[in-house]
Amino acid sequence: MILLKTDQQIDGIRKSCKLLAQLLDSLDGRIVSGMSTWDIDQICHEFIIKHGGKPAFLHYEGFPASACVSVNEEIIHGIPKRKRIIHDGDIVSVDLGINLNGYFSDSARTFLVGDVKPEVKKLVEVTRECLYKGIAALDKPRCRIQDIGSAVYEHAHRNGFGVVREYCGHGVGLHVHEEPEIPNYVSPFSPNPRIREGMVIAIEPMINLGKDGIIDMPDGWTVVTADGKPAAHWEHTVAITANGPEILTQL
Ligand code: CO
Repeated sequence: MILLKTDQQIDGIRKSCKLLAQLLDSLDGRIVSGMSTWDIDQICHEFIIKHGGKPAFLHYEGFPASACVSVNEEIIHGIPKRKRIIHDGDIVSVDLGINLNGYFSDSARTFLVGDVKPEVKKLVEVTRECLYKGIAALDKPRCRIQDIGSAVYEHAHRNGFGVVREYCGHGVGLHVHEEPEIPNYVSPFSPNPRIREGMVIAIEPMINLGKDGIIDMPDGWTVVTADGKPAAHWEHTVAITANGPEILTQL
């Protein structure tokens, strides 16, 4: 069941989202060579607690940290580790959720560290563009969930990149994950509900420099590209309001 939110609930979710946007903005330029992925998790954890929130991913289905930190060929759900050191030329995807007074936000960005190869930089930029094209698809009359995936897939494909199919965007706001699922491609087999006022959704393209394929690692969390090439991940929480889509996780 898709939970449609009241204006009052969207206000609460918006506050949670603004806090998350502030945190992600603060990471810009702060992720540098020599840091560990655990250091990034610490920064995020402390920020969320200091501002009265709870890290929504911590202990969610057993996840052991506040942030998912995925480096290079890691697509999503990387577990922060003291021994995983970030190097010049890496790309680092940070995915975060905050529970602020019972309202949930979800957002991710891929950060560049130092001198990143041009083709990898382009991957990160195209993934960001995919996210905004997916959001723009919500601004058309009578649009449906799969219009998002259609826009995302088309842009990634046009640039020659792979699109992850095994993981999707989702409803969000009153829980970490809600219906509907929001795939980044079009499938005749997945539900295609109409976009309606009161929906709050997390749109999250996961795009691979190489092929589509993924591997779920034995740690039970980390998802990597099957061909070992880098992947990028951008995500926003978006509310459908009377005035159209509103990106909540953006200042
Ligand atoms: Co998400």
